[in-house]
Amino acid sequence: MTDSSHVQYHIGLSGAMIEGARYVLMPGDPARVSVLSAAFARSRPLGQNREYHSALAYAEDLPTPVLIVSTGIGAPSAVVAIEELACLGVRYFLRVGTTGAIQEHIAAGDLIISEASVRLEGTSSHYAPIEYPAAASIDLIQALREAARALGVPHHSGMTCSSDSFWPGQERRDSFGAYVPRRFQGTLEEWRRLNVLSYEMENSALFVVCRALGLDAASVCATVACRWQREAVSHEAYAKAKDDLARVAVEAVRRHAARAINVIGRHG
Ligand code: URA
Repeated sequence: MTDSSHVQYHIGLSGAMIEGARYVLMPGDPARVSVLSAAFARSRPLGQNREYHSALAYAEDLPTPVLIVSTGIGAPSAVVAIEELACLGVRYFLRVGTTGAIQEHIAAGDLIISEASVRLEGTSSHYAPIEYPAAASIDLIQALREAARALGVPHHSGMTCSSDSFWPGQERRDSFGAYVPRRFQGTLEEWRRLNVLSYEMENSALFVVCRALGLDAASVCATVACRWQREAVSHEAYAKAKDDLARVAVEAVRRHAARAINVIGRHG
C-alpha cells in the first residue's frame, strides 16, 4: 500500500482522500458521476483530472463511503483507473455504463448485467493471455441481479462483447469511412447466434485485469442502442434508464457489502 498522502498521477486521488472506500462505481462518461452521486443519501465531489472525475458518496447502512470515478471511453483508460484505485485500497469494481443490444428480446432502456465478456480488445492481453477468461465476480453478479429484481427494473444477464472500437469492431457502417474490414464483417450476426447480448467497450478488460490482480469486478449497463433496429444510440433510452441504472448499482453495493460484513470476505 502506498503512502496515504500520495496522489495517484492519472486519477488525482490519494488514499487519504477516499476515506477507506472499498467499492468504486465506474461510469465511462464524467457527466454520469453526478447522476450516480444523486442516488446516495449524501455525496461530495472529489476531483477532476483528464477523464477521471470523482466523487465520494455515503449511505447510512454502509460502513465506508463509495467512490465514484469516471473512466472515459475504452479499455486503456479504464485499466489505468483500476491500477491506481487498487493501490489506494479499492477492492470491488463495478462498471456502470451503456451498451448496444444485439438480441431482439432486449428493449431500449433495459439493463444488461454482464456475466462474462468476449475479449475483442487489446488491453486485457497485456495482463493475461487470450485463453484467460473475462469473467465477472459471481457475488457481485448475484448482488446486481437481486437488486434489479427487488427494484422491479427490466434486466438481462449473460455474455457481452467488449470491442476496442465503437464502429468497425461493433460492425457499424454509419461511420465517416462507412467501411467494416473483412475481419469484422458478419461478426454481429455471429455473436448474436452465440447468445452474446450486447456490445460495449470496457467489460472484458475490467474482468480480466481485476481477476488477474485478485480483485472483484462486475458490470451493469443501460441499453442505449438496439442494433437490429438501427445503428445510432438513443439519448431517450439513456434518459429513461439512468435513474434505474444508478438505483440498481447502489442497491447492489448495499447487498454485497452487507454480505461481506457478515462473512469474512476475500479482502478481509
Ligand atoms: N456503447 C457501445 O460501445 N456500443 C453501443 O452500441 C452503445 C454503447
